[in-house]
Amino acid sequence: MKGILFTEFLDLVEDKYGLEMVDKIITSSKLESEGVYTAVGTYEFSEMLQLLQHLSTNTGISIDDLLLVYAEHFFDVLKQNYPELLAAYKDPVEMLASIENHIHVEVKKIYPDAELPTFDVLKKTKKSLVMIYKSSRAMHHFGLGLMNKTFEHFNATADIVVEKLRDDGTEVKFVINKN
Ligand code: HEM
Repeated sequence: MKGILFTEFLDLVEDKYGLEMVDKIITSSKLESEGVYTAVGTYEFSEMLQLLQHLSTNTGISIDDLLLVYAEHFFDVLKQNYPELLAAYKDPVEMLASIENHIHVEVKKIYPDAELPTFDVLKKTKKSLVMIYKSSRAMHHFGLGLMNKTFEHFNATADIVVEKLRDDGTEVKFVINKN
């Protein structure tokens, strides 16, 4: 997992819960990195999972809800760092339908070692989209947060239904209807 996800995550934890919480979740995890991350580095996903688990235990907030809030913050980071990728789109449905064959393709060019999910489009109309998310990392709620923010970015809203196709969350169906 790319370092930018760790640095931004820990910044957000510090903003919301203070430096003590950052310290607490780092020291209670077994981290090869020892909790020292750079934005351009690459680290084990298991480190993120441990940090999330400990934050969840300490706050009583589920990992899915933490990922949702984190993704909403991360969208602003993406907007600042990759404005040209977002500028290619005028419509949220078009943008989300293009994650797989444009946005994440570009991400892979920038970071060849990025570990990205797949989003297969099953059905698309002007105002709706059905996609299957697949990833061993089961970060579907991170995806949901980015989707919510994508609609907000275009001054739109949508109903998004998340249906697990596998219990472990590694395969999830998103049914998106723009309002
Ligand atoms: C992961 C970039 C838009 C869904 C990532 C990662 C990067 C990235 C750098 C981390 C890869 C790693 O750690 O190895 C971008 C950029 C975007 C964008 C630059 C737009 C400018 C989106 C959108 C979605 C999305 C709109 C909406 C669903 C995800 C998910 C992951 C991810 C779910 C987590 C990894 C996983 O589930 O396996 N993206 N992304 N991304 N991205 Fe995107």
